[in-house]
Amino acid sequence: MAEIKTERLDGYRRLVDIARDLASTLDLDILLSRIVHAAAEVSGAQAASILLYDDTSQQLYFQVSTNMEESVQSGFLVPLEGSIAGWIINNRKPVRITDAHEDKRFFSKVEKTTGFSTHSLLGVPLVTKNKIVGVLEAINKHEGKFSETDESMLLVLGAQAAVAIENARLFQQSDLIAEFVHELRTPLASLSTATYLLLRPEMSHEQRDQIVTNIHNETMRLNALASSFLDLARLESGRVQFRKTTFDIADLLYECKDVMASKAVEDNIQIRIESSDRLPLFEADRDKMKQVILNLLSNAIKYNRPNGSVILRAEEAEDEMVVHVQDTGVGIPETSLPHLFEKFYRVRENESRAAGTGLGLSICKQIVHGHSGRMEVKSKVGVGAEFLVFLPKQKRAAEIEKKKKKEIV
Ligand SMILES: Nc1ncnc2c1ncn2[C@@H]1O[C@H](COP(=O)(O)OP(=O)(O)O)[C@@H](O)[C@H]1O
Ligand SMILES: [Mg+2]
Repeated sequence: MAEIKTERLDGYRRLVDIARDLASTLDLDILLSRIVHAAAEVSGAQAASILLYDDTSQQLYFQVSTNMEESVQSGFLVPLEGSIAGWIINNRKPVRITDAHEDKRFFSKVEKTTGFSTHSLLGVPLVTKNKIVGVLEAINKHEGKFSETDESMLLVLGAQAAVAIENARLFQQSDLIAEFVHELRTPLASLSTATYLLLRPEMSHEQRDQIVTNIHNETMRLNALASSFLDLARLESGRVQFRKTTFDIADLLYECKDVMASKAVEDNIQIRIESSDRLPLFEADRDKMKQVILNLLSNAIKYNRPNGSVILRAEEAEDEMVVHVQDTGVGIPETSLPHLFEKFYRVRENESRAAGTGLGLSICKQIVHGHSGRMEVKSKVGVGAEFLVFLPKQKRAAEIEKKKKKEIV
């Protein structure tokens, strides 16, 4: 009996150390990795993982594990219904089981992907105040079964971890604000120079006109920067609710073409739509998808060459819908490709070509990720660029589609 008590005391002491350690970093990746290692240690388990829960898309996905390749684990989706982690999210209660395979809730697909076999499992919810952030799981107790003590230790660790994760996320947000303020400096500096010059008596009429035009352009850019920034901040914070409906994607392409028609005529760019006649209905937030396509289309026109063209294409792949936006423009240098979707990033060589904020593609990426999709870009300098949006087909759209087919038959 005495032995168990000391063991428990040591465990709690260790928890205090870990709490201190967790509080010392605001880097989310480092933090998560520390949490899983600590979880395996305090519960005497072979491995541990964190699954994060995304409020916006109501999705649960693997984030880190002590025992898996990063490429395998990160972003791997786990269903809310039909998984132990999903049950923990829905019920906000810990789970302690001796044989996961005997449990109806067990999501066996994870094992196929990771090649890691689960026997015993201890999982706790990661909750702050009243928000659920994710699930912390310890897998395969080294000796015997997970005990009540293990469970209460993991619960304490989970509570600390949830707060630390929230803090790191808030810090990421303040990072975004810092970047934004930095981006404000350049236009503000040019506005201040412009007004200074306007006040100089020796300025000619033409010079004044030029300065006023500059002021106008800079204010427009500030305006665009402010609204894009707000869009992105909302998306990043997970406060955006996607309102999904089913719609015809080809219709949407034509609508986007119409919106950009006058800009295209101005630059002498031809927009063509190529999509198969009968594409299945598609489920997504239509307004947000429109924003993605308009962003890509506006880039394809902006970074094109005179008399160039843009092709908009939608096609169906096995379980995805793919939208292509292809142009005959200046293209993107290979060294820039990895940075293209970063906030405020613009290709230096093409910066003077068109006004921009460098936020458009980050917004696209956030929206597409919010739909569990992904984006790709291919490009050759001087030839053009092609942006691809991959979106998983949703069950509901597939069912409506099936029903329609039956009605036709
Ligand atoms: N179709 C394209 N062709 C060439 N370069 C592109 C294209 N689309 C985007 N880019 C490059 O990627 C950068 C980031 O795009 P984006 O986030 O939309 O910002 P912005 O259009 O405001 O500059 C652009 O500044 C541009 O350099
Ligand atoms: Mg853009």
